[in-house]
Amino acid sequence: MEIKGLVNFESENFSGLNDVAVIALVDQDSCENFKLPDFLNDLQKIFNAAFTRKDFTGKKGKFLRVPVFDNANVRNLYLFGLGEKDKCNSNLIRDSLAWAFRAARNDKNKNVLLLADGIKYFCNVNEITAEAAGLSAYDFDKYKSKKDDENSKPAKLDNIFIHGVEINQNEIQRGEIFASSQVYSRDLINIPGCDVNPVIMAEKAQALAKDYGLEIEIYDEKKLLSENMGGILAVGKGSAVPPRLIHLKYAPKNPRKKIVFVGKGITFDSGGLDIKPENFMLQMKCDKTGACNVLGILKAVADLKPDIEIHGILACAENMPSGNAFRPDDIIKIHNGKTVEINNTDAEGRLVLADGLSLASDLKPDVIIDMATLTGACAVALGNWRAGLFVNDEELSNAILTASKKSGEAFWRMPHEDEHIEETLKSPFADLTNCGKRYGGAIFAAIFLSNFVAKDIAWAHLDLAGVDYYEKEYGIYSKGASAFGVRTCLEYVMNL
Ligand code: BES
Ligand code: MN
Ligand code: ZN
Repeated sequence: MEIKGLVNFESENFSGLNDVAVIALVDQDSCENFKLPDFLNDLQKIFNAAFTRKDFTGKKGKFLRVPVFDNANVRNLYLFGLGEKDKCNSNLIRDSLAWAFRAARNDKNKNVLLLADGIKYFCNVNEITAEAAGLSAYDFDKYKSKKDDENSKPAKLDNIFIHGVEINQNEIQRGEIFASSQVYSRDLINIPGCDVNPVIMAEKAQALAKDYGLEIEIYDEKKLLSENMGGILAVGKGSAVPPRLIHLKYAPKNPRKKIVFVGKGITFDSGGLDIKPENFMLQMKCDKTGACNVLGILKAVADLKPDIEIHGILACAENMPSGNAFRPDDIIKIHNGKTVEINNTDAEGRLVLADGLSLASDLKPDVIIDMATLTGACAVALGNWRAGLFVNDEELSNAILTASKKSGEAFWRMPHEDEHIEETLKSPFADLTNCGKRYGGAIFAAIFLSNFVAKDIAWAHLDLAGVDYYEKEYGIYSKGASAFGVRTCLEYVMNL
């Protein structure tokens, strides 16, 4: 797919295409005097009728699709409502464009003409268009012998012509890099546990490191043992496939800062011996979201080249019940020397992250950000469209919330301290227990993790349970894994 500028209809790369979708995003105020460019004069009457008959009012989320029969090039017109002008922003436009590009494909258009005059005040059109195009083109269909879109819609768009703003290749490229890193993460998350396990995660990371010039070190069972990574080893014990810790590094010359991302990489979470009931086990292939997101972030960073040293630590294991599995009552020792009494093997994410976070602390970075599909409690508290943010530093909190505003991924700041919940971390026989009371489960998990972060490091924990997977497509999201968190972290890094 190529994104091009368009000055007029006769432009050689536009006329003669007979499968063009014309897309206009219109806010409520602009409906009455919406004007098409001169070269589409013959279509203006369709727009006028739509507005005067109130078929289209510009309300947020409203969509009008008009088939066009009497124009040689244009096959469809689409109008998308942006709602009130003063509430419009780049996130709404990104979503609207994703809907629009998908609609264009469904209607067999291979080319799109985007009328960008009205939206250029709300966003960087080049960047947002490229990102929306890349994200909306993604479908997880590699396991279907007959693709949904076979013979019915084009697999992808050929060209997007933008009218009304100047084309800027750097901005387009930034949007493409953002999109392709999210698509990379989504695609890996979507692959089920039969085809991705910790060893395969390591192979994928190795391939990425090779392609993108990243440093990589993989901890196998022997190395995990010699580094005293008792959390990852315990969680991985029940599986037929051994656990892995993967350490990636992007190292520019003279970096201004050092940041470590840590991801929970449970390639399948059955719960272990504290096995999950069936309807809670479904979709637990997505329990590797944190680790896959970190891979996506490293991939983008290698392209975007900030002057910041960035590490990615992926703590990977498969949580399975078996004769070898770790048990309730077991006491294990984490990389930083602290002992943990297991009272629930389904609270496994915090155990692999504990090793990951203490290794991250050894690197003495300025900032650690971990991400994980950690607690059902967080999903219960915040729903499917807001992730939990636990952070011990005001500056880092502000920076992440600012990035989140730009990314459109919503985060809600949660308490990272609570003396009563902290009380329930105590174990009679070890330094800590891994599971507390039902109430405040997400906060318990965050406080548990804080025990493995060195005291002087600014640290944020992103709980992605609930936002990691969508059953239906919505805006930029396709069915399945969302890679929620990648965009915010990239914005955060690029704003530093
Ligand atoms: N992977 C789950 C959390 C989860 C739940 C992610 C729903 C996405 C959607 C995690 O390992 C888990 O099982 N957490 C338990 C913790 C409990 C045993 C303290 C939970 O939330 O029930
Ligand atoms: Mn679990
Ligand atoms: Zn889990």
